[in-house]
Amino acid sequence: MLTVVVDGFFGDTGKGKIVSYLSISDKPSIVARGGVGPNAGHTVVYYGKEYKLRQIPSGFVHKKSLLLIGAGVLVYPPLFFKEVRLTSTDGRVFLDYQTGIIEDKHIEEERKSSHLVRRIGSTASGSGAAMRDRVMRVLKVAKEISELSKYLTDVSGKINESLDKNENVIIEGTQGTFLSLYHGTYPYVTSKDVTASSICADVGVGPKRVDEVILVVKSYVTRVGEGPLEDEIPMEEAKKKGLLEIATVTGRIRRVAPFNFNYLERAVMLNSPTQLALTKLDILFPQDKGKTSYSALSKEAKEFVESIENRIGIPVSIISTGPESKSTIDRRRELGLI
Ligand code: IMP
Ligand code: MG
Repeated sequence: MLTVVVDGFFGDTGKGKIVSYLSISDKPSIVARGGVGPNAGHTVVYYGKEYKLRQIPSGFVHKKSLLLIGAGVLVYPPLFFKEVRLTSTDGRVFLDYQTGIIEDKHIEEERKSSHLVRRIGSTASGSGAAMRDRVMRVLKVAKEISELSKYLTDVSGKINESLDKNENVIIEGTQGTFLSLYHGTYPYVTSKDVTASSICADVGVGPKRVDEVILVVKSYVTRVGEGPLEDEIPMEEAKKKGLLEIATVTGRIRRVAPFNFNYLERAVMLNSPTQLALTKLDILFPQDKGKTSYSALSKEAKEFVESIENRIGIPVSIISTGPESKSTIDRRRELGLI
């Protein structure tokens, strides 16, 4: 069974947490990462330890999963090696032969670009400059880098083979729907499309192979960098409400807005999810922190979940009530989805 996990807002909705939970519960043979590259930051908290990952799939917590990075993704080798050590995943993490390589010159170029840094609010991780070089067909790919030789594989081949054997596979997206180069708030976007279709293409999987698309949305909306944000709440007010967050990659304070149905409806249209995952419910409803069953949720929290389901017509099958992988309400069985 193939499950694709993508973000319905501007990134940072907690995909890392959802993918880490799914990896432990569904025991996938493969967790593959699509998306842009090290501009993404996914946070995984497992047995009290926090991992901030920019390259390695968040499913690393399931020790038997093969961890793959698709041909459409960008890798900055020094960061990749650092995360392989951090997660102790040597021997089960692989890149596609044709995964694009970010070099120091790409990072330096972006850091010097006031258009990217000031106007767009880029993470300046070299992703955009590397994408441009890829389009011009001058970017190096993984098979040209000798230090990467033992990490190379045919990612598309591995995933499709595993699906032929009816094994579970998770594809993890990065960034968020409205940071998509095509469908987002251009020009305040990242350097690639990051909707579900592109995430599949990044790892070499055709649309007919997909069984479930899980769209991850947070109980409020955040955005880092420049660009429009509907109903943005002033920083002071957000702070009072306990909604301030610090960005994983850049350390910037995230801008905040209330939960937004317009964004959700459009994200549903663009990604065709079969299920929704709702994260950080405990931030809106602190009394529900750490809960693991739907029936135990407060009346207010349940009303919020129902308001989403009634409006969108898609089940909220997974609810996150805390940063730990285990602080999760998994309703898939009770809803007849598995
Ligand atoms: P870039 O992709 O680093 O050039 O950044 C372009 C825009 O996308 C900036 O507003 C970044 O803050 C935002 N962005 C890129 N990656 C992420 C992410 O993983 N989470 C949230 N925002 C991101
Ligand atoms: Mg993030």
